[in-house]
Amino acid sequence: MDFATSIIRWYEQNKRDLPWRYTRNPYLIWLSEIMLQQTRVAQGLPYYKAFTEAFPTVFDLAQAHEEQVLKLWQGLGYYSRARNLHQTAKEVAFQFDGRFPSTYKELIQLKGIGEYTAAAIASFSFDEPVPVVDGNVFRVLSRYFGIETDISSAGAKKEFAALAKELMSKHQAAIFNQSIMEFGALQCVPKSPDCSICPLSSSCFAIQKNKVNLLPVKSKKTKIIHRYFNYVVFLDQQHHTMVNKRVEKGIWHNLYEFPLIETETEIGLDDFVELLRANNWVENPIISVAEAHTKSIIHKLTHRHLHIKFIKVKVEGKLPEATDYGSLLELPFPIVIFNFIKNDWM
Ligand code: ADE
Repeated sequence: MDFATSIIRWYEQNKRDLPWRYTRNPYLIWLSEIMLQQTRVAQGLPYYKAFTEAFPTVFDLAQAHEEQVLKLWQGLGYYSRARNLHQTAKEVAFQFDGRFPSTYKELIQLKGIGEYTAAAIASFSFDEPVPVVDGNVFRVLSRYFGIETDISSAGAKKEFAALAKELMSKHQAAIFNQSIMEFGALQCVPKSPDCSICPLSSSCFAIQKNKVNLLPVKSKKTKIIHRYFNYVVFLDQQHHTMVNKRVEKGIWHNLYEFPLIETETEIGLDDFVELLRANNWVENPIISVAEAHTKSIIHKLTHRHLHIKFIKVKVEGKLPEATDYGSLLELPFPIVIFNFIKNDWM
């Protein structure tokens, strides 16, 4: 049996029951694929349900306020996905009358849609025979065919895409792509796959050569940047606080946060008090630094480790531009900040 037939047969017997597999609507496929980038299915599923309920069509998403979109995305991370999603929804709704482009070539022109997502939408919705290449596909093909190309090298994507395209039969693009990804997600997993139950093992290069744990080859290690965020949680006598929208471009662009003192290293309370005074955020004198979290929370992102402290500072009288607890809960925050608000507020 050839590779495509084997993997499709495996898929038919083992696939998960997932809502986006019951539709060919490109809007829903697009939503699901953007959400599932860098995200496990179990984590993405409730977000997919919330989004499709709040925004059943691309017009609903296009007409929403960005803040509502970001709030619904809260906790899923990589927020540029949500901002791009919203922008592209507006383009599709208002410039294309709600009709999604139907070819890979047109789809890839849209903001936030890269090679992977364009191939996923083109194949799942429109049966275009274009291969998806994601981490699962790299892993499955490198192991099965014994490909030792470094997957972080410049030409790797092209090489694996060419192989996948050769393997897929033209009229089964959608199911072939779903199958290979699902096989990578459930059977041919990164660590300790159970090859004893794998129906492809008799013709798999890696299992025969004892190279399952050596493939795929990936040389580039992601360089981790450390950042130190000291958040000032002002609390006035009405139990109000101050937050602002983060304008800095980057991961948390347009999300809310407490006034921030970013430092080069971790700082102690004395340095913090000095920096706080220098910032002059509030006119009222600070009566006490009520509590300092002596230990940072380390929030790990792909390229960054954020060392985060929340320091509560009591203020006499009323804060300017104060926000109460109820209003706070409505705003979109990075999840690490939202968890603090929910769990450690008072
Ligand atoms: N990960 C990315 N796309 C997926 C899909 N369509 N089904 C399951 N997991 C996925």
